[in-house]
Amino acid sequence: MADIPRRDFVRSALVGGAALALPKMAPIVSLIGAGGRRRSTLADSHIEVRLDSPIGVIAPEIYGHFTEHLGGVIYDGVWVGEDSKIPNVGGIRKALVDALTLIKPSVIRWPGGCFADSYDWRDGVGPRDQRPTRTNFWADDPGLRRVSDGPAKFDPNAFGTNEFMRFCRLVGAQPYLAANVRSLDARAFDAWIEYCNAPPDATTWSRMRAAAGDREPYGVRYWGVGNEAWGCGGNFTPAEYAEEYRRFTAGGAPQFGVDLRYVASGPSGTDRAWTTQLFDALHERGAVESVWGLSVHHYSSAPDAGADAVTFDERGWYDLLSSASDMDTVIDTTWAILAGADPRHHVKLVIDEWGAWHKSQPIADPSHLFESQSTIRDAVVAALTLNIFNRHADKVAMANVAQMINCIQSVFLAHEDQFTVTPVYHVFAMYAGHQGGRSVQTDVSAPRHTWTRKDGREAGLPGLSASASVKNQTVTITVANCSMTEPRVAEIAVRGWGGMRWLRATTLAAGSVHDVNSFANPETVKPVTVALPVSGWPLVREFPPASVTQLEIGLI
Ligand code: AHR
Repeated sequence: MADIPRRDFVRSALVGGAALALPKMAPIVSLIGAGGRRRSTLADSHIEVRLDSPIGVIAPEIYGHFTEHLGGVIYDGVWVGEDSKIPNVGGIRKALVDALTLIKPSVIRWPGGCFADSYDWRDGVGPRDQRPTRTNFWADDPGLRRVSDGPAKFDPNAFGTNEFMRFCRLVGAQPYLAANVRSLDARAFDAWIEYCNAPPDATTWSRMRAAAGDREPYGVRYWGVGNEAWGCGGNFTPAEYAEEYRRFTAGGAPQFGVDLRYVASGPSGTDRAWTTQLFDALHERGAVESVWGLSVHHYSSAPDAGADAVTFDERGWYDLLSSASDMDTVIDTTWAILAGADPRHHVKLVIDEWGAWHKSQPIADPSHLFESQSTIRDAVVAALTLNIFNRHADKVAMANVAQMINCIQSVFLAHEDQFTVTPVYHVFAMYAGHQGGRSVQTDVSAPRHTWTRKDGREAGLPGLSASASVKNQTVTITVANCSMTEPRVAEIAVRGWGGMRWLRATTLAAGSVHDVNSFANPETVKPVTVALPVSGWPLVREFPPASVTQLEIGLI
């Protein structure tokens, strides 16, 4: 562990309006540890929350989810069927509804992903027993080669638009639909909008919606115009996709009084060429104004031994966290390109796929493509990614973790009647308080971790990741300790502060970084909340190694 020089830390806090000068040396301080006990120790890190430097309101949609007809996400994950012995609400897994509701899932993206550009929404409406079975986009994936025929390969369409909308209603989420641009035309897109948003009894589609039990329009606002148009979404060039985007959105699509928000297919990671050329082509077609959001995808991974979801080594820990922290560059790079193409910045970023993607190791059923277990490493990935989104609240309008259940950065795992939340779930619960809060600048200095990559290159990672927001007289500070082995002790100063009424800390840490929540032991990794005594300044807190902490401070 290398302790490189800290960058300047503004050592002042305003307590009741008075500046508190902190000593130059790391002080011996009275420490409030994870269990709420006080002892003296040496602070090695600093976090300054600047209430006087607002960034923007954190869109609740940043805490969104993604569900694709892929492996075990929809069938077995979300949908168990109305006749199932597994407790369900109209066919939707009840345990999922109950747990998901608690973390305020602002928005859910559906039905893909790559699947979206092969999906005909008309197959998924009407009486369920009359719906056709279709070959799933993922049927030929090598991961399903030895899997018997079933819904992962041949989609029975039991879960369609009405079922998805009911799921959203049950958990209090807004729907975000991804339209098929590769293999359907703009007319089918118009018809889907009509099915969802036309007034009751107005059209044949809206009567069909009503006949299926949903008389009132859904009022769907968010529409993805294709997915990964540069890849599985049609292998378009930027100019070809811009032409399709224009065809789907220009003038023709019915509005039904809903402020439709179109999301154009953006780059993978920092692909500058796609974004630059796409916006040039959209400009030529007068189509930039209609773009509400630009979809950006960034998955993190660790090569070699680090790719194993559970038995990773120390290098695998840091390689993955470093890959996740590249999200910062992805956002800055894409935003800088947009500055040229859209100087008013009316187009915001929609990071509608993000997560840690490990070697696929289905847990209880081989059809669960891209499934793997989650550890505290994945929780730290989620925490540092969500901190990045909070810190870019002025740029990121939506983000959707990929995926909600049984896939990639799973928030939940389920098979038949077995169900568990993963450590990632707890991060979403601990961060829910940020939704709708005002993100404020948060300066962090902490010992930096350096390591050697497999190819011999030196790499470094900031020791702590943090973000903060204010809402309803409460400051929420979330901190990830990115060190796998070292605790950090941080002085925490809040500038622009009027005084403290109460203080609470929730910490998520694991006995071992390889611990998981299994179906048999679903509570192995779970957070602990303690109310702390209201103290003087600076507030000092120990962050255990490999942990995520939420501090909530009630303002006077
Ligand atoms: O999330 C899995 C897949 O990853 C999605 O279908 C696709 O959009 C991305 O490449």
